[in-house]
Amino acid sequence: MGSLMDILIIGSGGREHALAIGLSDSKSVKNIHVAPGNVGTSIIAQNHDIDISNSEEILSLSSGLGIDLVIVGPEAPLVEGLADCLNSSEIPCFGPISKWANLEGSKKYAKEVMEKLDIPTANYVELFEVSENHAILDKYKPPWVIKRDVLAGGKGVTVTSSKEMATSSINNAIEIDGSVLVEEFMEGEEASILVIMDESDYVCLPPSQDHKRLKDNDEGPNTGGMGAYAPAPVVTSSILRRVEEEIVQPMHSYLKNQEFPYRGCLYVGIMIDIDGAPRVVEFNVRFGDPETQVTIPLISSDIGELFFSAATGNLSKVDVNFHSYSSATVVLASNNYPSRPIIGDIISGNNVSIEEGEIRAFVHYAGTAINADGDYVSSGGRVLSATGIAPTLKEAVEASYQIINNIQLKDSQHRSDIAFRAFER
Ligand code: AMP
Ligand code: GLY
Repeated sequence: MGSLMDILIIGSGGREHALAIGLSDSKSVKNIHVAPGNVGTSIIAQNHDIDISNSEEILSLSSGLGIDLVIVGPEAPLVEGLADCLNSSEIPCFGPISKWANLEGSKKYAKEVMEKLDIPTANYVELFEVSENHAILDKYKPPWVIKRDVLAGGKGVTVTSSKEMATSSINNAIEIDGSVLVEEFMEGEEASILVIMDESDYVCLPPSQDHKRLKDNDEGPNTGGMGAYAPAPVVTSSILRRVEEEIVQPMHSYLKNQEFPYRGCLYVGIMIDIDGAPRVVEFNVRFGDPETQVTIPLISSDIGELFFSAATGNLSKVDVNFHSYSSATVVLASNNYPSRPIIGDIISGNNVSIEEGEIRAFVHYAGTAINADGDYVSSGGRVLSATGIAPTLKEAVEASYQIINNIQLKDSQHRSDIAFRAFER
Protein backbone atom coordinates (compact mmCIF):
# COMPACT_ATOMS: atom_id res chain seq x y z
CA MET A 1 0.00 0.00 0.00
CA GLY A 2 1.87 3.08 -1.20
CA SER A 3 -0.67 5.86 -1.71
CA LEU A 4 -4.02 6.65 -0.17
CA MET A 5 -6.73 4.12 -0.90
CA ASP A 6 -10.16 4.26 -2.43
CA ILE A 7 -12.35 1.79 -0.60
CA LEU A 8 -15.66 0.16 -1.46
CA ILE A 9 -17.80 -1.22 1.37
CA ILE A 10 -20.56 -3.68 0.45
CA GLY A 11 -23.77 -3.58 2.49
CA SER A 12 -26.39 -1.25 3.91
CA GLY A 13 -26.70 -1.84 7.65
CA GLY A 14 -25.48 -0.33 10.89
CA ARG A 15 -22.39 -2.49 10.52
CA GLU A 16 -21.48 -0.85 7.23
CA HIS A 17 -22.12 2.63 8.67
CA ALA A 18 -19.74 1.74 11.53
CA LEU A 19 -17.11 0.53 9.06
CA ALA A 20 -17.47 3.73 7.02
CA ILE A 21 -17.12 5.92 10.13
CA GLY A 22 -14.03 3.97 11.21
CA LEU A 23 -12.48 4.24 7.76
CA SER A 24 -13.24 7.95 7.55
CA ASP A 25 -10.78 8.38 10.45
CA SER A 26 -8.11 6.32 8.68
CA LYS A 27 -5.04 8.15 7.43
CA SER A 28 -4.57 5.59 4.66
CA VAL A 29 -7.98 6.18 3.07
CA LYS A 30 -8.81 8.79 0.43
CA ASN A 31 -12.36 8.05 -0.72
CA ILE A 32 -15.03 5.77 0.70
CA HIS A 33 -17.73 4.27 -1.51
CA VAL A 34 -20.58 2.12 -0.25
CA ALA A 35 -22.90 -0.15 -2.23
CA PRO A 36 -25.77 0.24 -1.72
CA GLY A 37 -25.16 2.08 1.59
CA ASN A 38 -27.71 3.90 3.71
CA VAL A 39 -28.63 7.35 4.98
CA GLY A 40 -25.70 7.30 7.40
CA THR A 41 -23.08 6.31 4.87
CA SER A 42 -24.37 8.92 2.40
CA ILE A 43 -23.12 11.63 4.78
CA ILE A 44 -19.51 10.43 4.90
CA ALA A 45 -19.16 8.39 1.72
CA GLN A 46 -20.57 8.02 -1.77
CA ASN A 47 -23.40 5.52 -2.07
CA HIS A 48 -23.90 3.43 -5.22
CA ASP A 49 -27.29 1.86 -5.79
CA ILE A 50 -26.28 -1.43 -7.38
CA ASP A 51 -27.40 -5.04 -7.00
CA ILE A 52 -24.93 -6.49 -4.50
CA SER A 53 -26.06 -10.04 -5.21
CA ASN A 54 -24.40 -9.63 -8.62
CA SER A 55 -20.61 -10.05 -8.27
CA GLU A 56 -20.01 -8.84 -11.82
CA GLU A 57 -21.79 -5.55 -11.05
CA ILE A 58 -19.57 -5.07 -7.99
CA LEU A 59 -16.49 -5.94 -10.02
CA SER A 60 -17.37 -3.46 -12.72
CA LEU A 61 -18.11 -0.70 -10.16
CA SER A 62 -14.77 -1.43 -8.45
CA SER A 63 -12.83 -1.34 -11.71
CA GLY A 64 -14.58 1.83 -12.85
CA LEU A 65 -13.82 3.65 -9.60
CA GLY A 66 -10.25 2.33 -9.33
CA ILE A 67 -11.01 0.72 -5.97
CA ASP A 68 -7.97 -0.46 -3.98
CA LEU A 69 -9.87 -2.56 -1.44
CA VAL A 70 -13.37 -4.02 -1.20
CA ILE A 71 -14.71 -4.74 2.30
CA VAL A 72 -17.72 -7.04 2.34
CA GLY A 73 -20.26 -6.57 5.14
CA PRO A 74 -22.94 -9.27 4.63
CA GLU A 75 -22.35 -12.99 4.13
CA ALA A 76 -24.56 -13.66 1.10
CA PRO A 77 -22.27 -12.08 -1.55
CA LEU A 78 -19.32 -14.01 -0.06
CA VAL A 79 -21.19 -17.31 -0.23
CA GLU A 80 -22.09 -16.43 -3.84
CA GLY A 81 -18.39 -16.00 -4.68
CA LEU A 82 -17.76 -12.24 -4.60
CA ALA A 83 -14.23 -12.65 -3.16
CA ASP A 84 -13.40 -15.29 -5.79
CA CYS A 85 -14.57 -12.90 -8.51
CA LEU A 86 -12.57 -9.92 -7.16
CA ASN A 87 -9.49 -12.10 -6.58
CA SER A 88 -9.50 -13.21 -10.18
CA SER A 89 -9.27 -9.52 -11.17
CA GLU A 90 -6.62 -8.90 -8.50
CA ILE A 91 -8.77 -6.48 -6.50
CA PRO A 92 -8.00 -7.03 -2.80
CA CYS A 93 -11.08 -8.23 -0.93
CA PHE A 94 -11.62 -8.25 2.83
CA GLY A 95 -13.86 -11.30 3.07
CA PRO A 96 -13.20 -14.96 2.29
CA ILE A 97 -13.70 -16.95 -0.89
CA SER A 98 -16.91 -18.90 -1.28
CA LYS A 99 -15.42 -22.19 -0.07
CA TRP A 100 -14.68 -20.65 3.35
CA ALA A 101 -17.87 -18.58 3.35
CA ASN A 102 -19.58 -21.95 3.63
CA LEU A 103 -18.48 -22.00 7.25
CA GLU A 104 -21.47 -19.70 7.66
CA GLY A 105 -23.48 -20.80 4.62
CA SER A 106 -23.70 -24.41 5.77
CA LYS A 107 -23.97 -25.35 9.44
CA LYS A 108 -23.16 -28.94 8.48
CA TYR A 109 -19.93 -27.91 6.76
CA ALA A 110 -18.92 -25.85 9.81
CA LYS A 111 -19.59 -28.88 12.04
CA GLU A 112 -17.51 -31.12 9.76
CA VAL A 113 -14.55 -28.72 9.88
CA MET A 114 -14.82 -28.45 13.68
CA GLU A 115 -14.98 -32.24 13.97
CA LYS A 116 -11.90 -32.62 11.80
CA LEU A 117 -9.96 -30.05 13.87
CA ASP A 118 -11.27 -31.25 17.24
CA ILE A 119 -12.79 -27.85 18.03
CA PRO A 120 -15.27 -27.89 20.94
CA THR A 121 -18.90 -27.49 19.86
CA ALA A 122 -22.30 -29.09 20.52
CA ASN A 123 -22.94 -32.67 19.39
CA TYR A 124 -25.44 -32.95 16.58
CA VAL A 125 -27.19 -35.32 14.23
CA GLU A 126 -28.45 -34.76 10.73
CA LEU A 127 -31.94 -35.99 9.94
CA PHE A 128 -33.31 -36.77 6.50
CA GLU A 129 -36.52 -38.57 7.42
CA VAL A 130 -39.50 -37.23 9.37
CA SER A 131 -39.85 -40.72 10.88
CA GLU A 132 -36.57 -40.23 12.82
CA ASN A 133 -38.17 -37.39 14.76
CA HIS A 134 -39.17 -39.23 17.93
CA ALA A 135 -35.90 -41.07 18.40
CA ILE A 136 -33.89 -37.88 18.18
CA LEU A 137 -36.14 -35.84 20.44
CA ASP A 138 -35.74 -38.62 23.02
CA LYS A 139 -31.96 -38.72 22.55
CA TYR A 140 -31.45 -35.00 23.33
CA LYS A 141 -33.08 -33.41 26.35
CA PRO A 142 -35.10 -30.19 25.92
CA PRO A 143 -34.66 -27.44 25.02
CA TRP A 144 -34.12 -28.71 21.50
CA VAL A 145 -31.95 -26.82 19.01
CA ILE A 146 -33.00 -27.27 15.39
CA LYS A 147 -30.92 -25.75 12.62
CA ARG A 148 -31.69 -25.52 8.93
CA ASP A 149 -28.59 -26.14 6.85
CA VAL A 150 -29.10 -23.07 4.67
CA LEU A 151 -28.10 -19.44 4.68
CA ALA A 152 -31.09 -18.14 6.60
CA GLY A 153 -29.88 -14.73 7.81
CA GLY A 154 -30.06 -15.80 11.46
CA LYS A 155 -33.63 -17.07 11.07
CA GLY A 156 -32.88 -20.75 10.47
CA VAL A 157 -32.48 -21.75 14.11
CA THR A 158 -35.25 -22.81 16.49
CA VAL A 159 -34.53 -23.29 20.18
CA THR A 160 -37.61 -24.66 21.95
CA SER A 161 -38.77 -26.77 24.88
CA SER A 162 -42.04 -27.54 23.15
CA LYS A 163 -41.97 -31.00 21.60
CA GLU A 164 -44.72 -29.95 19.26
CA MET A 165 -42.76 -26.96 17.97
CA ALA A 166 -39.54 -29.01 17.74
CA THR A 167 -41.36 -31.67 15.72
CA SER A 168 -42.91 -29.16 13.34
CA SER A 169 -39.57 -27.30 12.88
CA ILE A 170 -37.86 -30.57 12.01
CA ASN A 171 -40.62 -31.61 9.65
CA ASN A 172 -40.75 -28.22 7.92
CA ALA A 173 -36.99 -28.13 7.43
CA ILE A 174 -36.89 -31.65 6.00
CA GLU A 175 -39.75 -30.80 3.68
CA ILE A 176 -38.10 -27.60 2.39
CA ASP A 177 -34.39 -28.48 2.52
CA GLY A 178 -34.30 -32.29 2.49
CA SER A 179 -32.43 -32.46 5.82
CA VAL A 180 -32.03 -30.69 9.17
CA LEU A 181 -29.55 -30.61 12.06
CA VAL A 182 -30.62 -31.26 15.64
CA GLU A 183 -28.06 -30.09 18.16
CA GLU A 184 -27.41 -30.67 21.81
CA PHE A 185 -28.40 -27.57 23.84
CA MET A 186 -25.40 -25.81 25.39
CA GLU A 187 -25.92 -24.08 28.73
CA GLY A 188 -23.98 -20.93 29.46
CA GLU A 189 -23.38 -17.35 28.41
CA GLU A 190 -22.78 -16.34 24.80
CA ALA A 191 -20.12 -13.99 23.45
CA SER A 192 -18.76 -12.96 20.08
CA ILE A 193 -15.09 -12.86 19.16
CA LEU A 194 -14.33 -11.11 15.89
CA VAL A 195 -11.03 -12.38 14.54
CA ILE A 196 -9.23 -10.64 11.68
CA MET A 197 -7.35 -13.30 9.80
CA ASP A 198 -5.13 -14.01 6.83
CA GLU A 199 -2.47 -16.63 6.14
CA SER A 200 0.23 -14.63 7.95
CA ASP A 201 -1.51 -13.99 11.29
CA TYR A 202 -4.73 -13.47 13.19
CA VAL A 203 -5.87 -10.74 15.59
CA CYS A 204 -8.72 -11.14 18.10
CA LEU A 205 -10.67 -7.89 18.51
CA PRO A 206 -12.12 -7.03 21.94
CA PRO A 207 -14.81 -9.64 22.80
CA SER A 208 -18.37 -8.41 22.67
CA GLN A 209 -21.80 -9.63 23.63
CA ASP A 210 -24.88 -9.33 21.45
CA HIS A 211 -28.49 -9.41 22.72
CA LYS A 212 -30.27 -11.68 20.27
CA ARG A 213 -33.72 -11.82 21.85
CA LEU A 214 -36.19 -9.02 21.15
CA LYS A 215 -37.16 -8.26 24.73
CA ASP A 216 -35.55 -7.46 28.07
CA ASN A 217 -34.21 -10.38 30.14
CA ASP A 218 -33.52 -12.27 26.92
CA GLU A 219 -37.19 -12.97 26.28
CA GLY A 220 -39.15 -12.93 23.03
CA PRO A 221 -38.10 -14.14 19.59
CA ASN A 222 -34.56 -14.26 18.22
CA THR A 223 -33.58 -11.24 16.15
CA GLY A 224 -30.52 -10.12 14.19
CA GLY A 225 -29.35 -8.47 17.43
CA MET A 226 -30.93 -5.77 19.61
CA GLY A 227 -27.77 -4.30 21.10
CA ALA A 228 -24.22 -5.11 22.05
CA TYR A 229 -21.34 -4.01 24.21
CA ALA A 230 -17.60 -4.48 24.38
CA PRO A 231 -15.34 -5.54 25.92
CA ALA A 232 -17.58 -8.23 27.45
CA PRO A 233 -16.22 -9.09 30.91
CA VAL A 234 -17.59 -12.65 30.66
CA VAL A 235 -14.64 -13.30 28.35
CA THR A 236 -11.88 -13.10 30.95
CA SER A 237 -8.28 -13.19 29.78
CA SER A 238 -8.06 -16.88 30.66
CA ILE A 239 -11.23 -17.66 28.67
CA LEU A 240 -9.90 -15.63 25.75
CA ARG A 241 -6.69 -17.66 25.92
CA ARG A 242 -8.75 -20.86 25.74
CA VAL A 243 -10.74 -19.49 22.80
CA GLU A 244 -7.47 -18.78 21.00
CA GLU A 245 -5.87 -22.11 21.82
CA GLU A 246 -8.89 -24.37 21.35
CA ILE A 247 -10.73 -22.59 18.53
CA VAL A 248 -8.91 -19.74 16.77
CA GLN A 249 -5.45 -21.31 16.43
CA PRO A 250 -6.69 -24.63 14.98
CA MET A 251 -8.92 -22.71 12.54
CA HIS A 252 -6.05 -20.42 11.57
CA SER A 253 -3.58 -23.29 11.10
CA TYR A 254 -6.09 -25.05 8.89
CA LEU A 255 -7.15 -22.03 6.84
CA LYS A 256 -3.70 -20.52 6.33
CA ASN A 257 -2.38 -23.67 4.69
CA GLN A 258 -4.86 -23.66 1.85
CA GLU A 259 -4.34 -22.64 -1.75
CA PHE A 260 -6.67 -19.68 -1.17
CA PRO A 261 -6.33 -18.85 2.51
CA TYR A 262 -9.00 -17.17 4.59
CA ARG A 263 -8.75 -13.38 4.41
CA GLY A 264 -11.25 -11.31 6.35
CA CYS A 265 -13.10 -11.47 9.64
CA LEU A 266 -13.99 -14.82 11.20
CA TYR A 267 -16.79 -14.27 13.70
CA VAL A 268 -16.58 -16.88 16.41
CA GLY A 269 -19.84 -17.16 18.37
CA ILE A 270 -19.16 -19.01 21.60
CA MET A 271 -21.04 -20.42 24.57
CA ILE A 272 -19.10 -20.27 27.82
CA ASP A 273 -20.13 -22.87 30.38
CA ILE A 274 -20.08 -22.53 34.15
CA ASP A 275 -16.48 -23.81 34.28
CA GLY A 276 -15.30 -21.23 31.74
CA ALA A 277 -15.03 -23.70 28.87
CA PRO A 278 -15.83 -22.12 25.48
CA ARG A 279 -17.66 -24.03 22.75
CA VAL A 280 -18.53 -22.78 19.27
CA VAL A 281 -22.18 -21.90 18.66
CA GLU A 282 -21.53 -20.67 15.13
CA PHE A 283 -18.98 -19.27 12.75
CA ASN A 284 -19.84 -16.26 10.63
CA VAL A 285 -17.54 -15.15 7.85
CA ARG A 286 -17.98 -11.43 8.34
CA PHE A 287 -18.28 -8.75 10.97
CA GLY A 288 -21.27 -9.05 13.28
CA ASP A 289 -24.12 -6.57 13.34
CA PRO A 290 -24.41 -4.92 15.91
CA GLU A 291 -21.05 -6.16 17.27
CA THR A 292 -19.17 -4.05 14.69
CA GLN A 293 -20.73 -0.85 16.01
CA VAL A 294 -19.11 -1.47 19.41
CA THR A 295 -15.86 -3.08 18.26
CA ILE A 296 -14.55 -0.82 15.50
CA PRO A 297 -14.50 2.30 17.75
CA LEU A 298 -12.22 0.41 20.17
CA ILE A 299 -9.47 -0.08 17.57
CA SER A 300 -6.87 2.67 17.91
CA SER A 301 -4.71 1.53 14.95
CA ASP A 302 -5.40 2.65 11.39
CA ILE A 303 -8.21 0.35 10.26
CA GLY A 304 -7.74 1.07 6.55
CA GLU A 305 -4.22 -0.30 6.84
CA LEU A 306 -5.44 -3.19 9.00
CA PHE A 307 -8.11 -4.32 6.53
CA PHE A 308 -5.86 -3.86 3.50
CA SER A 309 -3.11 -5.90 5.16
CA ALA A 310 -5.49 -8.77 5.91
CA ALA A 311 -6.90 -8.65 2.37
CA THR A 312 -3.40 -8.97 0.90
CA GLY A 313 -1.84 -11.52 3.26
CA ASN A 314 0.25 -8.99 5.20
CA LEU A 315 -1.51 -8.91 8.56
CA SER A 316 1.65 -9.98 10.42
CA LYS A 317 3.30 -6.71 9.35
CA VAL A 318 0.85 -4.42 11.20
CA ASP A 319 0.59 -3.67 14.89
CA VAL A 320 -2.98 -3.62 16.16
CA ASN A 321 -3.78 -1.63 19.28
CA PHE A 322 -6.95 -0.84 21.18
CA HIS A 323 -8.38 2.02 23.24
CA SER A 324 -9.02 1.23 26.87
CA TYR A 325 -12.64 2.38 26.50
CA SER A 326 -15.94 0.53 26.67
CA SER A 327 -18.73 0.80 24.14
CA ALA A 328 -22.41 -0.06 23.93
CA THR A 329 -25.04 0.16 21.24
CA VAL A 330 -28.83 0.04 21.60
CA VAL A 331 -30.87 -0.93 18.54
CA LEU A 332 -34.14 0.82 17.72
CA ALA A 333 -36.37 -1.55 15.75
CA SER A 334 -39.64 -1.01 13.89
CA ASN A 335 -43.02 -2.03 15.19
CA ASN A 336 -43.59 -5.76 14.52
CA TYR A 337 -39.89 -6.56 14.02
CA PRO A 338 -38.69 -9.30 13.55
CA SER A 339 -41.74 -10.97 11.95
CA ARG A 340 -43.17 -8.32 9.62
CA PRO A 341 -41.70 -4.90 10.39
CA ILE A 342 -43.94 -1.92 9.73
CA ILE A 343 -41.98 0.69 7.83
CA GLY A 344 -42.47 4.19 6.46
CA ASP A 345 -43.03 5.99 9.79
CA ILE A 346 -41.37 9.31 10.54
CA ILE A 347 -38.36 9.35 12.87
CA SER A 348 -37.43 12.43 14.88
CA GLY A 349 -34.88 13.33 17.54
CA ASN A 350 -32.21 11.32 15.73
CA ASN A 351 -29.98 14.19 14.67
CA VAL A 352 -28.21 14.25 18.01
CA SER A 353 -24.74 13.32 19.19
CA ILE A 354 -22.94 13.66 22.50
CA GLU A 355 -19.41 14.80 23.07
CA GLU A 356 -18.66 15.44 26.74
CA GLY A 357 -15.03 15.04 27.67
CA GLU A 358 -14.09 11.46 26.93
CA ILE A 359 -17.72 10.37 26.45
CA ARG A 360 -19.03 10.19 22.88
CA ALA A 361 -22.31 8.91 21.52
CA PHE A 362 -23.91 9.03 18.08
CA VAL A 363 -26.32 7.23 15.76
CA HIS A 364 -25.44 4.33 13.46
CA TYR A 365 -28.08 4.17 10.74
CA ALA A 366 -29.51 0.95 9.28
CA GLY A 367 -33.12 0.70 8.00
CA THR A 368 -33.64 4.46 7.73
CA ALA A 369 -34.48 6.42 4.59
CA ILE A 370 -35.32 10.03 3.76
CA ASN A 371 -38.71 10.63 2.14
CA ALA A 372 -39.70 13.18 -0.51
CA ASP A 373 -40.34 15.81 2.20
CA GLY A 374 -36.86 15.35 3.64
CA ASP A 375 -38.07 13.50 6.74
CA TYR A 376 -36.20 10.54 8.18
CA VAL A 377 -38.45 7.46 7.90
CA SER A 378 -38.12 3.82 8.93
CA SER A 379 -37.31 1.54 6.00
CA GLY A 380 -36.32 -1.74 7.66
CA GLY A 381 -36.58 -3.92 10.75
CA ARG A 382 -33.58 -2.61 12.60
CA VAL A 383 -33.85 1.13 11.99
CA LEU A 384 -30.77 2.53 13.72
CA SER A 385 -28.72 2.12 16.85
CA ALA A 386 -27.29 4.60 19.32
CA THR A 387 -23.70 3.89 20.24
CA GLY A 388 -21.80 5.23 23.22
CA ILE A 389 -18.04 5.10 23.78
CA ALA A 390 -16.67 6.05 27.17
CA PRO A 391 -14.05 5.26 29.81
CA THR A 392 -16.52 2.94 31.61
CA LEU A 393 -19.26 0.61 30.35
CA LYS A 394 -21.79 2.33 32.59
CA GLU A 395 -21.05 5.70 30.96
CA ALA A 396 -21.16 4.15 27.48
CA VAL A 397 -24.56 2.56 28.16
CA GLU A 398 -25.95 5.76 29.70
CA ALA A 399 -24.80 7.84 26.73
CA SER A 400 -26.44 5.38 24.27
CA TYR A 401 -29.74 5.54 26.17
CA GLN A 402 -29.56 9.33 26.38
CA ILE A 403 -29.74 9.33 22.57
CA ILE A 404 -32.17 6.44 22.10
CA ASN A 405 -34.64 7.83 24.66
CA ASN A 406 -34.75 11.07 22.71
CA ILE A 407 -35.72 9.44 19.42
CA GLN A 408 -39.36 9.17 18.41
CA LEU A 409 -40.64 6.50 16.04
CA LYS A 410 -44.22 5.26 16.30
CA ASP A 411 -44.48 1.96 18.23
CA SER A 412 -40.75 1.33 17.89
CA GLN A 413 -39.05 -1.26 20.05
CA HIS A 414 -35.78 -1.25 21.95
CA ARG A 415 -34.38 -3.14 24.90
CA SER A 416 -33.81 -1.23 28.11
CA ASP A 417 -31.27 -3.66 29.57
CA ILE A 418 -28.32 -3.64 27.18
CA ALA A 419 -25.18 -4.93 28.97
CA PHE A 420 -27.20 -6.24 31.94
CA ARG A 421 -25.05 -9.35 32.21
CA ALA A 422 -21.92 -7.24 32.62
CA PHE A 423 -23.55 -5.28 35.44
CA GLU A 424 -24.72 -8.46 37.19
CA ARG A 425 -21.18 -9.79 37.49
P1 AMP B 1 -26.83 -19.68 15.38
O1 AMP B 1 -27.41 -19.02 14.16
O2 AMP B 1 -26.29 -21.05 15.12
O3 AMP B 1 -25.85 -18.79 16.08
O4 AMP B 1 -28.03 -19.80 16.41
C1 AMP B 1 -28.80 -18.67 16.81
C2 AMP B 1 -28.88 -18.60 18.31
O5 AMP B 1 -29.48 -19.81 18.81
C3 AMP B 1 -27.52 -18.54 19.01
O6 AMP B 1 -27.04 -17.23 19.09
C4 AMP B 1 -27.87 -19.12 20.37
O7 AMP B 1 -28.49 -18.15 21.19
C5 AMP B 1 -28.88 -20.18 20.04
N1 AMP B 1 -28.20 -21.49 19.87
C6 AMP B 1 -27.75 -22.02 18.73
N2 AMP B 1 -27.20 -23.23 18.93
C7 AMP B 1 -27.30 -23.48 20.25
C8 AMP B 1 -26.93 -24.59 21.09
N3 AMP B 1 -26.38 -25.70 20.59
N4 AMP B 1 -27.18 -24.47 22.40
C9 AMP B 1 -27.77 -23.37 22.93
N5 AMP B 1 -28.17 -22.31 22.18
C10 AMP B 1 -27.94 -22.36 20.86
N1 GLY C 1 -25.16 -10.19 15.70
C1 GLY C 1 -25.13 -11.48 15.16
C2 GLY C 1 -24.64 -11.57 13.78
O1 GLY C 1 -24.15 -10.62 13.22
O2 GLY C 1 -24.74 -12.66 13.20
